Amino acid sequence: MPSSITLQPIVAEHHPLTERLWQLYRHDLSEYWGTYPDAEGLFATARLRSFFTDSDRCGYLVRQDDRVVGFVLVRGLLSGLRVMGEFFVLRAARRRQVGWEAALLVVRRHPGDWEIAFQESNAAAAKFWRRVATEVAVAGYKDEERPVPGKPEIDPDTWLSFTV
Ligand SMILES: CC(C)(COP(=O)(O)OP(=O)(O)OC[C@H]1O[C@@H](n2cnc3c(N)ncnc32)[C@H](O)[C@@H]1OP(=O)(O)O)[C@@H](O)C(=O)NCCC(=O)NCCS
Repeated sequence: MPSSITLQPIVAEHHPLTERLWQLYRHDLSEYWGTYPDAEGLFATARLRSFFTDSDRCGYLVRQDDRVVGFVLVRGLLSGLRVMGEFFVLRAARRRQVGWEAALLVVRRHPGDWEIAFQESNAAAAKFWRRVATEVAVAGYKDEERPVPGKPEIDPDTWLSFTV
């Protein structure tokens, strides 16, 4: 059966929607990063906005039929080393292969050298990304820990590196 998952490039009209989804995403990750929203109850969006304005970066909404079920943000379009900047599937859509199909679509849309980082304590992401890397890497993947810049108080990130 053909997949119902599609990637829709994020353009200006999607920015407010993406900013709302970003709040849900940052709340999910706050469990691992120890981050809090500001006095207005909002997580910072500066990082997201860089994907709207920087020509080295892009973003996609993940759609399933007529629903938005997540987003993907990619950097390194010009530099040649693609990095999975951020990746989010709405909770109601999880464990239904939505993330899997979206990840395969995005890395194959931007073939080349890739890196993906996650916190090992984010067990879902750790399992998910190692499975994705195993599937898409043409010659296996490298798996290493790197300190999180400016955040010595949290555990190092795990980075997977591979070529698609
Ligand atoms: C990680 C995330 C993207 C996975 O998306 P998803 O659509 O639920 O994943 P899929 O259904 O495509 O899962 C594919 C495989 O990944 C693994 N996996 C995914 N979620 C898992 C979980 N909670 N526990 C264990 N394995 C998991 C499984 O092997 C799964 O295959 P299976 O369901 O046949 O066992 C999603 O949980 C999410 O958005 N989490 C919050 C944000 C986040 O952590 N993003 C990544 C930041 S690095």
